[in-house]
Amino acid sequence: MPPPRGSGLITRLSRPHIAPRLATTSLAYRRRHFTSNSKHTAAVSSTRVTDSHAPPPPPISGKPNGGDKAFYPGEPSGPTVKTEIPGPKTKELIADLESVFDTRSLNMITDYEKSVGNYIADPDGNVLLDVYAQIASIPLGYNNPALHKASSSEAMVSSIINRPALGNFPPHNWANLLREGILKAAPPGLSHVFTAMAGSDANETAYKAAFMYRRQKERGGAEVEFTEKEMQEAMDNKGANLSIMSFRTGFHGRLFGSLSTTRSKPIHKIDIPAFDWPQATFPQLKYPLDQHVAENEAIEQAALDEVSHLLSTWHIPPAAMIVEPIQSEGGDNHASPAFFRKLRDLALKHEVLFIVDEVQTGVGATGKFWAHEHWNLETPPDMVSFSKKAQAAGYYYKDKALRPNKPYRQFNTWMGDPARAILFSSIVSEIERLDLVNHTARVGSYLFGKIEELASRYPDQFQNLRGKDRGTFIAFDNPKRDEFLKMAKGLGVNIGGSGNTAVRLRPMLVFQEHHADILLEALEKIARAL
Ligand SMILES: Cc1ncc(COP(=O)(O)O)c(C=O)c1O
Repeated sequence: MPPPRGSGLITRLSRPHIAPRLATTSLAYRRRHFTSNSKHTAAVSSTRVTDSHAPPPPPISGKPNGGDKAFYPGEPSGPTVKTEIPGPKTKELIADLESVFDTRSLNMITDYEKSVGNYIADPDGNVLLDVYAQIASIPLGYNNPALHKASSSEAMVSSIINRPALGNFPPHNWANLLREGILKAAPPGLSHVFTAMAGSDANETAYKAAFMYRRQKERGGAEVEFTEKEMQEAMDNKGANLSIMSFRTGFHGRLFGSLSTTRSKPIHKIDIPAFDWPQATFPQLKYPLDQHVAENEAIEQAALDEVSHLLSTWHIPPAAMIVEPIQSEGGDNHASPAFFRKLRDLALKHEVLFIVDEVQTGVGATGKFWAHEHWNLETPPDMVSFSKKAQAAGYYYKDKALRPNKPYRQFNTWMGDPARAILFSSIVSEIERLDLVNHTARVGSYLFGKIEELASRYPDQFQNLRGKDRGTFIAFDNPKRDEFLKMAKGLGVNIGGSGNTAVRLRPMLVFQEHHADILLEALEKIARAL
């Protein structure tokens, strides 16, 4: 049981305002800031800004390694909770929206103009610290100045209004754009990219590449022509008899192939035809890790044995296996770097491709740019899929032979989006400029240490704390998880869940110690109240 701490807790929780140190709304701040900043105004006029009411804010700064100066000078100093959430205006908007759009999965109607940095605003004037970040997909904060600038450029305007069919009509600077952004961020050893539309699409197309690569090898090489029989069978939907192996409780998307490898929740899959593909058990580690070393080794070895068995015996031979570095939607399940190294070895041994799904873990949040860099692999993955914080999507690959032997075999109308590639390029530059990967590693260990302290005082509320040394990619289980998340909103913090009981933290890369302190205060209040 948690120790009784102070009195009047419930009274405090039910108070509409939890943060007396509230600041002005971001927009008001920004207006004031701009009018007094003539240097900035001059800079703005030299860029092409399409919305004359909202000049871009100055670049964010801060000294991530030398203190906790705010990256966003315009951020409020804490959350504001003015009404119940959802408040009266939000309720009206939901009712209106419901007449034209399914609102049953709605989390929060958002006022994006008033959101800034780590803070998300709603139409009732509530401004919450956001550690969910659009399902882990905002890298640099709301209304980020660098992205605002990139979005106001001629190149962006042209990309949006002249959206190319990339496979047929790539823009003249597409190679440079890829080199300056998406490929600049490529995981070690992977120098090619196929761009796609979203995480599901990235995985779906990676699977297709794996199948075509496998059949090409079996056929005897890229030059060997398809037979008449093969072509007829393809038209009769009797194509290659191949599969992709995935893991129980994994999530890889919702298209037909990607959904077949998704094993998180029945609600994602029910009524949808799926391929008869193998699934191996993902290690369900026991926490704290240092108290269960031998047991966890045995759990991981059992999973590896199962993988080995499935790869050699499944009735539809696997062409690839796909794995998340941290199973995210499925409940933030971790495994050791040694487990992943052995998994990579098994892929090599059984001659299946090794696909790492970094859609959620990629782009800095784990304290490395790509989470699989924590594993120190001897042989890099064959493919790494990405989306979310990259804002662009696709898969990186190692071997040029993963390009199919003929054009139009891996093809779509858009095949990605130069507008999104421009954004990713700016995101990469900002991450470098502000050293945000190391920053996130540092803030993550601060946050983890503090939650560890909370867990020692409230063990029932912070179960199976995980994510040590994985940046801010931290989670724990709570028996009343949904109530936990609801209370967090009332306290001014937007948090997400995953799996059945996990509270998952997914702050942006501009999350700092002073944000962590606000989050920790709310976590403790919830723990005491639940
Ligand atoms: C690991 C992982 N892979 C794939 C996907 C699918 O991405 P999208 O929703 O963009 O299709 C997700 C989405 O949450 C994910 O977390």
